[in-house]
Amino acid sequence: MSFTSHRGQFPHSRPRRLRASEFSRRLVRENRLSSDDLILPLFVIEGRDETQQVASMPGVERLSVDLLTAKAKQLVQLGIPAVALFPVVDPSAKSDDARAAYDKDGLAQRAVRALKDAAPELGVITDVALDPFTSHGQDGLMNDAGYIVNDDTVEVLVQQALSHAEAGADVVAPSDMMDGRIGAVRAALERDGHANTQIMSYAAKYASSYYGPFRDAVGSAGNLKGANKFSYQMDPANGDEALHECALDLAEGADMIMVKPGMPYLDVVRRVKDELKVPTFAYQVSGEYAMHCAAFENGWLNRDAVILESLLAFKRAGADGVLTYFAEEAAQLLQAQ
Ligand code: PBG
Repeated sequence: MSFTSHRGQFPHSRPRRLRASEFSRRLVRENRLSSDDLILPLFVIEGRDETQQVASMPGVERLSVDLLTAKAKQLVQLGIPAVALFPVVDPSAKSDDARAAYDKDGLAQRAVRALKDAAPELGVITDVALDPFTSHGQDGLMNDAGYIVNDDTVEVLVQQALSHAEAGADVVAPSDMMDGRIGAVRAALERDGHANTQIMSYAAKYASSYYGPFRDAVGSAGNLKGANKFSYQMDPANGDEALHECALDLAEGADMIMVKPGMPYLDVVRRVKDELKVPTFAYQVSGEYAMHCAAFENGWLNRDAVILESLLAFKRAGADGVLTYFAEEAAQLLQAQ
């Protein structure tokens, strides 16, 4: 068919018409990214005035508690509603029973107190999982056969979540994928006077290779015994199972659910949001961050534009918010717009 055969006819519809002017592009825009959608993950270390670069995550620094509180105040100025806290403890604090996880004066607990003191309006989300504290780097307790045992792990997770709530955490976020932990944590929070402590469940968390740089960041990569987390994190091949996991966690008392990783799993975000219609978050994980940075550093992608486009895609997929290492930068970009 030649182009000339169309001459004299008009297309029934010209979708380009609304794209021709900025005013109408703005009017018909379906989704918007704002700083309200962003949660910044932060890595905290011991010491004073101490920063450490994370080699596989250019631009991401681990911060001592005093620097963390300074950062928190800047994040409030940028309109970021919450941070997700990840402690990086010394190898000497790691053990087979992960007892440092629920130490009232542990690094995470001290960081929570300092953050709530310095910037009370900033929501503090804590990670409930044992991997920073186990000598083998797995998220739970390991038996002699190398299997991560479920119910004994849940008991430790409950202690950990309670210690976070007592320190003042607004939200506890179990990222361990043990069965039944949301119900157990919810019951313990209710019982101990923390009825308003929220639970953001990493409900659909996949056994992903995109977490590599994070394991460097928290220092659990080198010592990860068993090499993978296939016996508790979800198989990347599965979609229906994510709905099942999310429904269970909601029934057990989760207030918000999360899908993780993010960009390769936006189909899961959409399905979860459509089916369950609850506050749904997604995590643009360390590997996604590292991949983007590699392309930016090589001049292969436009940094500012791609950061904002990647985050807007989460909104279009139905996410209510995104945990992203780009949160601070994205909020700065949005503020400058
Ligand atoms: C572990 C945990 C992981 C992440 C958050 N919490 C890694 C893992 O499951 O091995 C990954 C975050 C990221 O890659 O950015 N409880």
